[in-house]
Amino acid sequence: MGHTPDIAQAVEALRAGKLAAFPTETVYGLGADARSDTAVAAIYAAKGRPQFNPLIMHVASLQEARRYGAFSDTALKLAEAFWPGPLTLVVPKSADCPVSLLATAGLDSIALRVPAHPVGRALLTAFGGPVAAPSANLSGRLSPTHASHVRDQLGDKVAEIVDGGPTEVGLESTIVSCLTDPPSHLRAGGVACEEIEQALGIKLAGGEMEDGKPISPGQLQHHYAPDATLRLNVERAEPGEAFLAFGPDVPDHNGVLKNLSPSGDLQEAAANLFAHLHELDAAADRIAVMPVPETGLGEAINDRLRRAAAPRTLDV
Ligand code: TXA
Ligand code: MG
Repeated sequence: MGHTPDIAQAVEALRAGKLAAFPTETVYGLGADARSDTAVAAIYAAKGRPQFNPLIMHVASLQEARRYGAFSDTALKLAEAFWPGPLTLVVPKSADCPVSLLATAGLDSIALRVPAHPVGRALLTAFGGPVAAPSANLSGRLSPTHASHVRDQLGDKVAEIVDGGPTEVGLESTIVSCLTDPPSHLRAGGVACEEIEQALGIKLAGGEMEDGKPISPGQLQHHYAPDATLRLNVERAEPGEAFLAFGPDVPDHNGVLKNLSPSGDLQEAAANLFAHLHELDAAADRIAVMPVPETGLGEAINDRLRRAAAPRTLDV
């Protein structure tokens, strides 16, 4: 076949906070060290996605996955039955989870999977940490099943592309949330829903229709919502408000203040977004947010800020 995947170089790139594309059995992933906000921000910048969707963390083994997520008996059963393989499990984050808040989009849950591709697994084993990776395509383009697809779409944005030949499944992983009882089927993919139900001996929630509408428990399409109320696009915070600033020109503020990026860099702002929001949320009941430009990653930042500012009951 003539593929000589250079795993050592990809590991080095990941350790340096750079992007490395790698094969899984489903599609190629655009990987970054999941523990680094800055590395994860580079994923979003490369993909040109207008939204920060939570990502899947790829790990070498169930044992490693258990460092980042809390596995119920049901979750363990699914992991043991289908890993390595095209099944992603959403579980509560572990108490001391070192994964970037940007990678999980600020949620208390985490999506984990152990891919089955030998080259991908060799990379994960050698790296020895969690790798955040969406499919390695530009936003809105077809999922990459060959290294050449990645090279064509993202070649100038990734440090390394590990070529493991064409991917076998060619379709993304199935996603099951173990946050509900019974677990919920969130996305159809490489493992059939019936196979999962057979392994568990019970029906999954979600994906089913009732009166023409999908049954989906409210917590499924969960977005990070701070307890504090947010006031957006303000130039100056009021007394009692925590202040989320952006850029070099910040008015004086007598209270808690975090700057998304003092130099006005949107990739830095993306890396800091969820960590800063969590910190200000813990410190105040109201957060004032300075305007963030609607260009590049600013679009995704503003999308998240608008969702965080929206009334709680409607989960979009
Ligand atoms: O096969 C795959 O799954 C590929 C390869 C690279 O592993 N990856 C992939 O990633 O398809 P991506 O980013 O395109 O899809 C990730 C999905 C998104 O739909 C996201 O909403 C969901 O996983 N997800 C991640 N964390 C979640 C969470 N905590 N709760 C619910 N959904 C979550
Ligand atoms: Mg995708």
